[in-house]
Amino acid sequence: MKKKLIFSGIRATGRLHLGNYLGMVKGMLQLQEDEKYQLLFSVVDIHAVTTPYDKDKLSQRTYDVVLDYLASGLDPEKSLLLVQSKVGDLHAELAFYFSTVMTVARMQHLPTYKEKAQQHPDNVTMALLNYPVLMAADILAYHSELVPVGIDQEPHLEVTREVARKMNSLYGMNFPEPKRFATEGGKVPSLAGEGKMSKSIEGSYINLTDDLETIKKRLAGAPTDSGKGESVPTSGGVANLLQFVELFMGEDKRKGYEAMYVGEGIRYGDLKNELAEAIYAELKPIQKRRAELEKNPEYVEQVIEEGAKKARQIASATLAEVKEKMGLK
Ligand code: TRP
Repeated sequence: MKKKLIFSGIRATGRLHLGNYLGMVKGMLQLQEDEKYQLLFSVVDIHAVTTPYDKDKLSQRTYDVVLDYLASGLDPEKSLLLVQSKVGDLHAELAFYFSTVMTVARMQHLPTYKEKAQQHPDNVTMALLNYPVLMAADILAYHSELVPVGIDQEPHLEVTREVARKMNSLYGMNFPEPKRFATEGGKVPSLAGEGKMSKSIEGSYINLTDDLETIKKRLAGAPTDSGKGESVPTSGGVANLLQFVELFMGEDKRKGYEAMYVGEGIRYGDLKNELAEAIYAELKPIQKRRAELEKNPEYVEQVIEEGAKKARQIASATLAEVKEKMGLK
């Protein structure tokens, strides 16, 4: 049986936070053991240059994501780890050919493009417009069928499918139409009270590398209320904290705290302490492995090079076929 390829791309924004880990990485890593799937984990550093970024920090940020993946249990014997810029020539060339089947008007209508154009009005570049086409190249270079991303990325996957259909019908390629894929796990709430945990919202996240003290400090900043009331809040800071309790200490604990809320009241100091310990217990083994990896940069470098080599074999075959079928012989 042919394995289905699951392609995950994570932006090179430095250390992963709990939201990345529980929302995607952990669920993906569980699938490493599943024979139905072949996994490819990429750190998409080329996408980072499509909006203003810090060139002196980019490679460290990329490396930090690689370390977090490996520390979280990515097994390079089973899965492919790919730093996008290591095969940037192939992805970028493929993206160029793909851009011939997508119109400017179509790309300008994407909500993600409009949002970023608004955020960076002085940097509305060709690269930004082409961002989703490069993403299509990442995915289709490996004939990936499943892509674990959040709902916000669905418009990009729609572009990927459109590219696939057009390349198939115009040039007789045989690209699959990749689908969004939900891993076990899910949304991790923000510590700031609203929405989900995000690197771009200060006070909303916990890093995988945070020690117990830091976790306590971050939890201390999470908004609460008086601790008691008629009914348990369903949104806002307290609701989010209770969701964390469930995630890290189980449903029964959550029910216990909910009963306190409508009864004698919750002491948030106690809750936050207990929660910090539970979160730290989950992160400690990851941090231990990370510390070991930090002492062994040669090994990490070798994993990166090996991953690039394997990826290059697959992506270059796809590129050769595209060129051939497009008449670029
Ligand atoms: N656009 C994705 C994001 O913002 C990152 C990404 C780039 C990606 N290429 C990808 C995700 C390929 C999945 C597959 O999260």
